Amino acid sequence: MEMFAMKRVDDFRLRLGKKELVPIMVGGMGVDISTAELSLEAARLGGIGHISDAMVPTVSDRRFNTKFVKNKLRQYKFNVANSDKAIVKFDLGLLAEATALHVGRTMEAKRGEGLIFINCMEKLTMNAPRETLRVRLQAALDAGIDGITLAAGLHLGSFALIEDHPRFRDVNLGIIVSSLRALQLFLKKSARTGRLPDYVVIEGPLAGGHLGFGMDWAAYDLAKIVIEIRDWMKAEHLDIPLIPAGGIFTGSDAVAFIEMGAAAVQVATRFTVSNECGLPKDVQQEYLKAGENDIVVNTISPTGYPMRMLKNSPAIGSGLRPNCEAFGYLLDSSGNCQYIEAYNREVAAHPDAKKVQVMDKTCLCTQMRNFELWTCGHTTYRLKDTTRRNDDGSYRPLSAEHIFRDYQFSTDNKIALPD
Ligand SMILES: Cc1cc2nc3c(=O)[nH]c(=O)nc-3n(C[C@H](O)[C@H](O)[C@H](O)COP(=O)(O)O)c2cc1C
Repeated sequence: MEMFAMKRVDDFRLRLGKKELVPIMVGGMGVDISTAELSLEAARLGGIGHISDAMVPTVSDRRFNTKFVKNKLRQYKFNVANSDKAIVKFDLGLLAEATALHVGRTMEAKRGEGLIFINCMEKLTMNAPRETLRVRLQAALDAGIDGITLAAGLHLGSFALIEDHPRFRDVNLGIIVSSLRALQLFLKKSARTGRLPDYVVIEGPLAGGHLGFGMDWAAYDLAKIVIEIRDWMKAEHLDIPLIPAGGIFTGSDAVAFIEMGAAAVQVATRFTVSNECGLPKDVQQEYLKAGENDIVVNTISPTGYPMRMLKNSPAIGSGLRPNCEAFGYLLDSSGNCQYIEAYNREVAAHPDAKKVQVMDKTCLCTQMRNFELWTCGHTTYRLKDTTRRNDDGSYRPLSAEHIFRDYQFSTDNKIALPD
C-alpha cells in the first residue's frame, strides 16, 4: 500500500501508435473553454490537449476576425420571427473553412512532444446531422489534427463518414462512452470500416458538460464502469487504451485508475481556472467560490442530455428569443430545437409580456457563446483548495503548466499551491 501511495502519474506512459505520452489528457470543453492555448500547453508538456469544434464559426469570428456569424444572420434575417427554422442551413464550404482555420492555426503553433486532438460532438446536429458532421471531421483531418475524440452521441455512423479519407487509418480516433453497452454498439457498427478506435474515454457521472447518464447519474460509479469495460475487453482479446474521466482531481486519483488498468486519464475541471482557459476571469471566480450545493445537474439543455452547471448560471430561466439564424447548432434534421418549443409556449402563455422566463430549457447556443451557462464538473467545489487568495479575497488563477505538473508529479493526494 505504501508503494502504491507514493507512485506518481509520471511513472507511467500512454502509448498511442509510436508515441509515448505523459498519460494526462485535458478534455475538450466547448465553446472555446478548452482553448487552443490550453491544449497547446498540454501538448508542450508531453500530454494531450483538446480543442473543440463546437460552434467553430463563432469561435473563428472571435479569434480570427472572420464574419461567419454576421453573414449567416444577414442571409437568414428574414426568418428571425418565424418559429419554423427548417430553412436555416449551414453552408458546408464555410463550415469547412472555419474548422480549417481553428485547427490549422492551432497545429501551426504546436511545440513539444505531445498531441492535439479535437472534441467533436454528435449532438451538434446543425440542421443536417450527417452532412455537417462529415465536413467537421474531414476538415479537421485535412488541417492536420493529431486525433479526433467523438463525443456526445453514440457515433454509430461516424467512422463511415471518414473511411475514405487518406488519414483515416493513421490519425488517432477515439470515442467517449459512459457504459459498456455504448462501447459494444459503437464497435459493432464501426466494424465494417475495418478499424478499431485507438483509445476509449470512459466518462463517469461526475464529469462536466453533458452527461451520458439519465437523472439517476448518482447511482453510477466510474471505477465500476472502468472495471466492467476492462474485463470485457480482456475476454474479447481487445487491446485498446482506456482513459477514464470525471472527478479525477489529484495525481493520486489518476494513479489509482492507472493501477486499475487505465492507460491514461482525461481531466478538465481543474483546468477551468487556468489562465489559458477560455472562461472570462469573473466567471472563473464563480467556479472558485462555488460550494457543493451550488452545483446542479438539470435538464435545461435542449440536447436532451442532463448537464451539470453552477446554479447561479445566468442562462437558467433566461427567455431569450431563439438565435438560430445566427447560430442554430442544435437544430435537428428538420429545423426543430427543444428550446424553440419551450420559448414559444411561454410567449403564447404571456402574450403581453415584454420578456418571458423559460425555466425548463435554455438557448444553449447563445448562452454558451456568451459564457452565461457555467457548466462544470462535480469537483468544482474543491477548486478553492487548489490555489491561494489575494488580499481582496479573490482567488488566484493558475497556469495550465502548474496544474498539469501537479497531476503529473503529486503523491499522497497532495495538491501543490502556487508560489
Ligand atoms: C466546463 C466544461 C465543459 C465541457 N465541455 C465538454 C464538451 O464540449 N464536450 C465533451 O465531450 N466534454 C466536455 N466536458 C467534459 C470533459 O471533457 C471531461 O471529460 C470531464 O469534465 C472530466 O472530468 P473532470 O472535469 O471531473 O476532470 C466539459 C467539462 C467541463 C468542466
